[in-house]
Amino acid sequence: MVTLRAVDGGGAGRAHALGRVIAMVNDKGGVGKTSLVANLAGQLAAADYRCLVVDLNRQANLADDLGYRDDEDDDQGAGLVLSILTESPLTPVEDVRPGLDVVPGGARLADLVPLMVSRLQERGRAAFDVLAEVLAPTAEPYDVVFVDCPPESTILTDLALTAARWIVMPTKSDVGGLVGMRLVAERFAVARERNPDLALLGAVLFATGTRSRRVHAELRGAVAAAFGGHSPLFATVIRHAERSAQDARRLGRLAHELELEVAAQPAWWASLRAGSTATPRLSTAAAGVAADYRDLGVELLTLLRAAEESTTGRDVEAM
Ligand SMILES: Nc1ncnc2c1ncn2[C@@H]1O[C@H](COP(=O)(O)OP(=O)(O)OP(=O)(O)O)[C@@H](O)[C@H]1O
Ligand SMILES: [Mg+2]
Repeated sequence: MVTLRAVDGGGAGRAHALGRVIAMVNDKGGVGKTSLVANLAGQLAAADYRCLVVDLNRQANLADDLGYRDDEDDDQGAGLVLSILTESPLTPVEDVRPGLDVVPGGARLADLVPLMVSRLQERGRAAFDVLAEVLAPTAEPYDVVFVDCPPESTILTDLALTAARWIVMPTKSDVGGLVGMRLVAERFAVARERNPDLALLGAVLFATGTRSRRVHAELRGAVAAAFGGHSPLFATVIRHAERSAQDARRLGRLAHELELEVAAQPAWWASLRAGSTATPRLSTAAAGVAADYRDLGVELLTLLRAAEESTTGRDVEAM
């Protein structure tokens, strides 16, 4: 297994603290951004990596996937807006899962857009640095930080791309996903003017139901076309499993948590014999989906480690 030691608190400042910030981006909606963020962060946290997720979505599906919607701590984005307004460090909700903290999104994020519009008028594009500034002191103790980006939201996505070191871009293999990817590439190019370290860690095929080489080759071609010949692609594909995804969002459970519950549920014939129709049975596909996220997590850590070794050679180890 690959492990990453926590980043030291050394003096390299903001860039150092933000070195493990991953923006999950695609302008196209419904391509798996939130599912990937929730499950990757959840599995990495379960494997003892400290993870932080920042939710930049007004609809906040992350709250559904992690099961904290309307909990006492779910401020629907108010804390995030306040941090940006006052330019003070983000304050995450701790231990949404052991080792997994979250800065919630939600309806209150609507206030961010007018705030950013007026800041842009005052400060020009330097205004986009604010998320990096409020995230850097908070990000310090985490092994990995994910920013769940919204679809079709330029200002919020620009904030994320100015704070992140890496982009991970889920896509489906259809035309819509590929158009979304081109739009990301355009914003990526602009964001790099302020954040030259930003790089594409890879694209991920999401819920495709196929591992065919042709689909992979087509995706690689599309990423290369969008990103000027650069086309990193995760080998792991998240399999199509719609019922399992519905179970997950309805119950606020991650795929690896459902996997355990599926294993514990009585055999279908036992429920049938007992005449139990009260609780719908969980889809048995959860185990396969959980395995995909596990593989993707290992691939992601391996890529981060390799990138860090090649650029700095600092403070990283494999076991
Ligand atoms: N493995 C899967 N197979 C099929 N469908 C899935 C799978 N995982 C998640 N889904 C479903 O895909 C839909 C979109 O997923 P998700 O919300 O993660 O996408 P998104 O890119 O974050 O969307 P948005 O841009 O609207 O925020 C959801 O309805 C979810 O239940
Ligand atoms: Mg989403």
